[in-house]
This record gives sequence, structure tokens and C-alpha cells, in this order.
Amino acid sequence: MQTTSLLSSFTKALAGFAALFFLSLSSPLPAAITPAQIGYHGEVRWVSVEDLPLPLAQFTTVFWDPRDTPSLRKLIRLTDAVRGKRVLEIGTGTGLLAACALQAGATHAVATDINPSAVLNARFNGTLLGLANRLEVRQVTLAQPDAYAIIRPEERFDVIISNPPWVNRLPQSIDEFALYDASFRLMRTLLDGLPQHLPPGGRALLAYGCVDAIKTLRSECAKRGYTFRVVDDDRDLDKLPEEFLPGMLLEVTLPDRR
Ligand SMILES: C[S@@+](CC[C@H](N)C(=O)[O-])C[C@H]1O[C@@H](n2cnc3c(N)ncnc32)[C@H](O)[C@@H]1O
Repeated sequence: MQTTSLLSSFTKALAGFAALFFLSLSSPLPAAITPAQIGYHGEVRWVSVEDLPLPLAQFTTVFWDPRDTPSLRKLIRLTDAVRGKRVLEIGTGTGLLAACALQAGATHAVATDINPSAVLNARFNGTLLGLANRLEVRQVTLAQPDAYAIIRPEERFDVIISNPPWVNRLPQSIDEFALYDASFRLMRTLLDGLPQHLPPGGRALLAYGCVDAIKTLRSECAKRGYTFRVVDDDRDLDKLPEEFLPGMLLEVTLPDRR
């Protein structure tokens, strides 16, 4: 390992310890909440984004690449997209987007994931950030992986957010569920359930960085009579590589039937 990467690992570890230390001084929460206390015994890496005041823990096999979602996080941070609203995040990973939404004033967030380590990870980060009383993290099962499988039929949200897996391929291991969505089943079931879980005129905000996925999303929206919009991004899909970063922010809006 080179000196610079050693230094960078050391700095990140230090930031993590500092986060726990300052929480222990300033938070009404049980100060030194440890991953073991919530049932996680693997390695922890410390990562940060500008949206959040403290580093987040990343557990083994849990996805981390904030380059997927800069536009979505900016919209959450700088507009009323989620303020005062009830949010559903599908596929939460470390809890990054749900935490950003709560930090930006969402009243409550339900966050789901199929990776059991991600469920623990998001709960841990929610506690670390003092957001746990407004964050509910739920485990999706491999047997029933549809987007709303663990959302009750009558549950409604003001906004649904997701940085779903982008590539139409079969995952072979739990970490690959972060990357692959075979036959775009998660995307299709997410779209199918929007009228049941959003109010008329409600919207979903989705991050994708894959041309095939975005074109599929656009055509699946058209089939269902939803409005599809690329948010503040003038990149040409036909000139982008098949997979690209940063991810593109797509807004899906339901018809307003009122
Ligand atoms: C690209 S990662 C995004 C994680 C996080 N939202 C972020 O932006 O850092 C996609 C996440 O979706 C989860 N996932 C994949 N299939 C899922 C499903 N059927 N239901 C819920 N979560 C799923 C993965 O485990 C992974 O954590």
C-alpha cells in the first residue's frame, strides 16, 4: 500500500472515531453505539459526503459510491423535494439517501434493502446521525424481492426515492444485488406500485447511470401513462457510454386525477 493511501485510510478511520467521540459528547443517544450492539461483527469503513455532518459507516458487502447520486442529493439538500414529507427509499445501502432526506427535513423515512448487512448498516448510521426515531429500515427477502413486498398495501408516501441497481443481469452474490436488476424486475415493480403508494400527481426520483436502464424506464413509464423527465442534465443518452457516472436523475410523475 502506498503512503498516500495509508494516510487516507488512517484519516478516514480517525474521522470515524471522531464521529463516535463527538456523538458521545453531544448526543442524547446511547453514546458509543457500536456495530456489534446492533448485531454486526464485520469490518467497518468510514465514508463521507458533503450532505451529512458526520461520516457514515459502510459495512462489508454494502454498496458505496456517492457518484451515483449527486443530482438527487443536491435536489434533496437545496429544494423542498422532501421537506415536511414522508419518504420511501427503495434499496438504501448504507442509508445514505434516507439520511439525506431526513437531514433535509423529511418527517419520516421508510428504507428497504435486500442485503441484511445493508439493513443493519442503515439502522446503525441512522442511530449515529440521531435520525433513528424517524427512520424505519425494513428487510426485503430473496423469496419476494418486489419493490413493495414489505410495504403494506395502504401505506402512502409523498415521495419515493431510489438509486436502484442499474444493469439487466442476474446477481450471483448479495453484494451484486447493488448492481444488477435481472429483467429490470425491481424497476418494473417499482413503477407498477406507484399509483398505490403515491398520491395522484406524486413523484418518484430515481438515479440511473446506465443507458439501457434509462431507455427502459422511459418506455415503461410511457406504457403506464406516467410522465418521465430528466432533471437538470443535458447529457445526450445516445452519446454516453452504456454505463456512466455521475448518475442521471430521473423524475417519474403520476397523472393528477383530482
Ligand atoms: C446502487 S445501490 C444504492 C444504495 C444507496 N441507496 C446509495 O445510493 O448508496 C442499490 C441498493 O439496492 C438494494 N437492492 C437490490 N435489490 C433490491 C430489492 N429487490 N429490494 C430492496 N433493495 C434492493 C441493494 O442491496 C443495494 O443496497
